[in-house]
Amino acid sequence: RREIDIKIVEVGPRDGLQNEMCMLPTETKVSLVKKLIEAGCKNIESGSFVSPKRIPAMANSKEVCMILNNWRNEGNTCDDVILSALTPNLRGFEDAKGIVDEVAIFASASELFSQKNIGCSIEESFVRFEEVMTAAKEARIPVRGYVSCILGCPYSKHVPPTSVADVSLRLLEMGCYEISLGDTIGVGTANKTKNLLKVLKEAGVDSSRLAVHFHDTFGQALSNIYVSLEEDIRVIDSSVAGLGGCPYATGASGNVATEDVLFLLHGMGLSTGIDLNKMVDVGHFITDHLGITNKSKCGTALLAK
Ligand code: HMG
Ligand code: MG
Repeated sequence: RREIDIKIVEVGPRDGLQNEMCMLPTETKVSLVKKLIEAGCKNIESGSFVSPKRIPAMANSKEVCMILNNWRNEGNTCDDVILSALTPNLRGFEDAKGIVDEVAIFASASELFSQKNIGCSIEESFVRFEEVMTAAKEARIPVRGYVSCILGCPYSKHVPPTSVADVSLRLLEMGCYEISLGDTIGVGTANKTKNLLKVLKEAGVDSSRLAVHFHDTFGQALSNIYVSLEEDIRVIDSSVAGLGGCPYATGASGNVATEDVLFLLHGMGLSTGIDLNKMVDVGHFITDHLGITNKSKCGTALLAK
């Protein structure tokens, strides 16, 4: 595996597309992931094994993952590429097993968001996650853990940093190799981010086990990422063209755009292994397909050149 300074987890094909009103055709999703690989992305969240009634845009995830897996098995060169998917329960895991390299479970630091998003309490969600963990260990599939609402919740006013620490520690103890901290509604600011990361460190969560996942609703994602880098975070989730949002977090906009994150990181002399210009092209490919505005500032600026 090539040495890089920062691992980018490209969540566009999952977080980016899950909020779309209609499901993107399977072949377009497959093309998107292939183009991301071609641009140098090594970690790509390609789908979500959830209820199609709840998240219609992800209903073809199994097909997408299966086609990509077959394509790889045909000898196409992407040995060090990790394709992953969300699997909130055993059923989702069983569907994803064998066609993805990694899975992710997603918990919340806010009780109300847990209820709205996955239809159960935080405590109940851990019972489901244990089942996924046990099956994943048996199948030797690495599991990533998300914690949502780390800096605010759409349904409850305040989310204490200690709740984020508790949920993160539980996910690590149960065997997640990495915790992705989700600012689901993008309300975090630099000071709040710094404070949260300090609380997590004091609680015993090592920064080497953390990733950050900022939605950019209030335009704070890049400054929050900068602060996170200062706190030794080395894994960043982002979405090509700034696609995305969570259907259970009304008003939340997309993830921070991968192109903009690359411009920041490469400008700091930090390597990602991803080609910025190729990512800009992927961003326009997908927004043209969706008929939506490209939310990456960098993508817009570089296209105009
Ligand atoms: P449940 O416990 O069965 O209860 O599902 P439910 O009432 O919520 O769902 C019921 C229906 O889903 C039933 O079908 C089940 O069979 C079916 P029906 O009888 O109505 O026809 N079902 C499934 N179908 C396909 N695959 C499955 C599955 N499991 C049950 N695996 C569940 C619990 C979590 C599946 C459900 O509540 C759900 O799908 N919720 C949507 C959650 C979601 O995808 N949210 C968005 C992703 S999270 C996110 O965006 C945040 C993140 O980006 C980080 C951040 O930004 O903070 C990760
Ligand atoms: Mg998200």
